[in-house]
Amino acid sequence: MNKDFRDIETPFYYYDTVLLQATLDAICKEIKLYPNFHVHYALKANANPKILPIIQRAGLGVDCVSGGEIQTAIDAHFPTNSIVYAGVGKTDKEIILGLRNRIFCFNVESIPELEVINELAAKENTIANVCLRINPDVEPHTHMNIITGMAENKFGIAMSDMEKVILLASTLPHIHFKGLHFHIGSQITQMGDFRALCERINRVQEWLEARGIQVEVINVGGGLGIDYQNPQVNAIPDFKEYFQTYAQYLMLRPNQSVHFELGRSIVAQCGTLITRVLYIKKGTYKQFAIVDAGMTDLIRPALYHAFHRIENISSSAQTYELYDVVGPICESSDIFDYDVQLPTTERGDMLAIRSAGAYGETMASTYNGRALPKSYTDKEI
Ligand code: LLP
Repeated sequence: MNKDFRDIETPFYYYDTVLLQATLDAICKEIKLYPNFHVHYALKANANPKILPIIQRAGLGVDCVSGGEIQTAIDAHFPTNSIVYAGVGKTDKEIILGLRNRIFCFNVESIPELEVINELAAKENTIANVCLRINPDVEPHTHMNIITGMAENKFGIAMSDMEKVILLASTLPHIHFKGLHFHIGSQITQMGDFRALCERINRVQEWLEARGIQVEVINVGGGLGIDYQNPQVNAIPDFKEYFQTYAQYLMLRPNQSVHFELGRSIVAQCGTLITRVLYIKKGTYKQFAIVDAGMTDLIRPALYHAFHRIENISSSAQTYELYDVVGPICESSDIFDYDVQLPTTERGDMLAIRSAGAYGETMASTYNGRALPKSYTDKEI
């Protein structure tokens, strides 16, 4: 990163919109090959109003998980009929917002939720489009906290309840049953995991066919991972391989469309958290670089022990030392990384915490009375 950020108040998120556009172009290039594939951007990854218009202009739909996100999507001019809405705990108010805006579909996660949507749709004198979120019980190779599609997770409807729920969905008068939704987890880098999901869906489709049930939409969720180790070399994920996996292994019926809900793979690499070194402190065993960003700005390392590459972008020192890079928050877990090798670092140096565009700013908090981080794009600074 060769920008000089020294005059700007830190910490802040810096978004490279050129990289974001290149990432979107890479997706659009691949998706063109499969006319029945549609990508919905998972808004939870990053809802910054400076970057949403770029995603909206690329023609992606949007995947929301709350009324607040539905409103954000509408405000960013995503067409309401391109909004899909998942979540295990949708409130009545949120469901009504979705109904009134005629969103593309509710991804329904339980029988009671299906019944409530039917009742509210009746009151609103409308029909709700519904996909049933099925828990496929597929285990991806990723961090335990971001697995969603195993039987013990709270998400989705158990495979064993599928018949009952589909029958119910087809009899409820204010429900239009459109299809099935799956999502096995996030930061998945092994295509074999997506292949396993395809194979599970193929079995479900055979089962449906045997019962004369047809579905229009198969939503396979998101989850494509990124290279946190090498953000510079692998700035754009391998979308070709990803979409090819689904094209090759998912056995579709005529007129079925496949929906994807990608979040991280679209925005992670274009975002960097820029922070300033406040103090270098030598402890008994460790040397600390205390920076002005903390877990309130980027919680991933504290919450998931997630790795983010850290670079000193202002030092020209030729010697290297090890630092625990820590924030100012009153929590021992407020550590960005241990034993980071950096050029000899001093007070005032600027550090870049890379690959922070997804689940960075959206997960920020005001704990310890802190302000939410600011953000800038390459067009602004
Ligand atoms: N669809 C559903 C139903 C989801 O639950 C998620 C993410 C996505 C799509 C988008 O997944 P992606 O393509 O971004 O992997 N905060 C965690 C990640 C939580 C993911 C939650 N669900 C992190 O920082 O790693």
